[in-house]
Amino acid sequence: MATVASISYFKRYKMEAALGEQPCPRLPEGFAFAAWSHGLMEAHADVLFASFHREIDAQVFPSLGDRQGSLCLMIEMTRKRGFLAEATWLLLGPGGPCGTVQGMRERDGFGSIQNIGIAPEWRGRGLGEALLRQAFRGFQREGLTRARLEVTAQNDPAIRLYRRLGFRRAKTLYKAVPEWSGF
Ligand SMILES: CC(C)(COP(=O)(O)OP(=O)(O)OC[C@H]1O[C@@H](n2cnc3c(N)ncnc32)[C@H](O)[C@@H]1OP(=O)(O)O)[C@@H](O)C(=O)NCCC(=O)NCCS
Repeated sequence: MATVASISYFKRYKMEAALGEQPCPRLPEGFAFAAWSHGLMEAHADVLFASFHREIDAQVFPSLGDRQGSLCLMIEMTRKRGFLAEATWLLLGPGGPCGTVQGMRERDGFGSIQNIGIAPEWRGRGLGEALLRQAFRGFQREGLTRARLEVTAQNDPAIRLYRRLGFRRAKTLYKAVPEWSGF
């Protein structure tokens, strides 16, 4: 029988921003955005896995540490009522898909960023910022003027990116993650 061996608590920040005018994101040569379509489900899942499986969030959300789990996450998200195709983009690079962002509409009128990931070898070139701005423009096309996201407090690169784009901490949360034994 499976039992909970221990529980770890991860500090997370809920961050929010008003979406001002969003400049059209500029991508380096050889990169392009691909709009959401169901045919891209596996490509999004593969980039999710590549971006997250060695990162802190794979401990917080174990599905992100597993290719099949990442695919299940994508499928679940796209079936939810608030899923926003307009704010969900795949980033294509010279070697194939290298970034993903997914957006949802929350009931209180916020656009919510679900996951943003850039594959490790493509980081530090402004692609994360460009992909987020592309999602923000999608929120705006849907009439949403504010955005929200959650981030693990230890995730310094992501927090720096979000602060640069105007996000500020609105709430601190603790996510309990059980570790199972007896499987
Ligand atoms: C968070 C994440 C999406 C950022 O992606 P990224 O493409 O590296 O982001 P950017 O390139 O826009 O910004 C990263 C840094 O590169 C710098 N940069 C941007 N363009 C640059 C360029 N042309 N040359 C050199 N540096 C550049 C930025 O100033 C930034 O510097 P900082 O680390 O001092 O803040 C990426 O690290 C990631 O996928 N992490 C794992 C998944 C994750 O944790 N996602 C967030 C979950 S909440």
